[in-house]
Amino acid sequence: MRKILTIIGARPQIIKAAAISRALRRDFSTQLAEDILHTGQHYDDNMSRIFFNELDIPQPHYNLGVGSGTHGSQSARMLEGIEQVLLEGSYSGVLVYGDTNSTLAGALAASKLCIPVFHVEAGLRSFNMAMPEEQNRLVADHLATRLYAPTQTAVTNLSHEGLTERTLLSGDIMLDNTLHYLPQALRNGFLQRNGLTDGQYILATLHRDFNTDNSIRLQAILHAIQEIMHVSGLPVVLPLHPRTANRLKELDLTLPDGVRQMPPVSYLEMLALEHGASLLLTDSGGVQKEAYFLQRPCVILRPETEWQEIVDEGAAILADADPSRILDAYHTLSNRPVCRQPLFGDGQAAQHIINDILKYIQ
Ligand code: UD1
Ligand code: UDP
Repeated sequence: MRKILTIIGARPQIIKAAAISRALRRDFSTQLAEDILHTGQHYDDNMSRIFFNELDIPQPHYNLGVGSGTHGSQSARMLEGIEQVLLEGSYSGVLVYGDTNSTLAGALAASKLCIPVFHVEAGLRSFNMAMPEEQNRLVADHLATRLYAPTQTAVTNLSHEGLTERTLLSGDIMLDNTLHYLPQALRNGFLQRNGLTDGQYILATLHRDFNTDNSIRLQAILHAIQEIMHVSGLPVVLPLHPRTANRLKELDLTLPDGVRQMPPVSYLEMLALEHGASLLLTDSGGVQKEAYFLQRPCVILRPETEWQEIVDEGAAILADADPSRILDAYHTLSNRPVCRQPLFGDGQAAQHIINDILKYIQ
């Protein structure tokens, strides 16, 4: 049977892999097998192992254990390790997700060995080349054999780069996941266990390097959070990414009183938190989308977004790290209902992707 190698490494990729693995086992078990390679980019239990257990993702066949480092050294260790696995195995294709250093290394290692590369979540652009993710996704898209675009905007971006022939509008596998796991997440009882009530808190996440590694921006965002708690009378719940936790420690910064800080939570817990929140504040790509899927308004703590359609729909506002823009966005969005339009496909993106992969591998 034909076999692909799925490459993951960072939290959102592990979650994304659940959608494809689930569809493979359910609908394609006689046609396509999968081995998983974990680069080890994320390694804390609550950034990695927790998702394999909760989302029933097959254990990785390989774990390179590369850990943290500078972009160059981390990517180089991944590249070397992935190449070794590809040379020793016999894979018909390599599947990569998103735009992390693990994506870059996977796409590069496979394409140098002339192994077809399948890129899920292709075509996103921030048009900000200072972002490591923009660099990674541009390279991965141009190396890929097939590009799975989650949105029409992504299709358009790829057409501007001459990549239309290789592109499929698949929809977004994270919508597949949200629809699949939401009922389970809502039965999980996480809000009750943590003394939280539906609609009675705001949820925040923060991890982008340009926010955490710039103390002025980081402090401005913390100040905005404090102001929002003051005007809304609601607590802000903040599951803290390890990058941000480390930076706060290094800078000796404390979170404003009233922030409900917690370690990174599981995916089901996160869906429950997002569903129960009255509003979200985030610089995460995945969380912006999940806010929209769950019809919750979202203030984006970035100057631009790859998910511009959510902003165009009026469901989210770009507020950067500017306290007055963040507060204005809060006031504008806090009583605005969000209607979800079918911008992210039909919730069956994994099936569309696997059917397409089968046409392009030997
Ligand atoms: C990475 C991705 C980013 C993605 C994010 C998802 C790149 C360039 N960036 O950013 O696109 O949005 O993952 O969460 O690939 N750390 C730990 N434990 C861990 C993982 C990280 O303590 O399990 C700490 C380390 O101090 C590390 C820092 O977090 O240096 C940053 O981790 P890294 O994977 O380099 O980047 P992220 O900010 O997580
Ligand atoms: N997420 C999670 N636990 C958390 C924070 C986020 O399970 O404590 C999930 C979230 O629901 C989404 C994904 O992680 O599916 C987003 O990952 P992240 O924000 O780390 O990265 P990005 O999407 O910005 O690349």
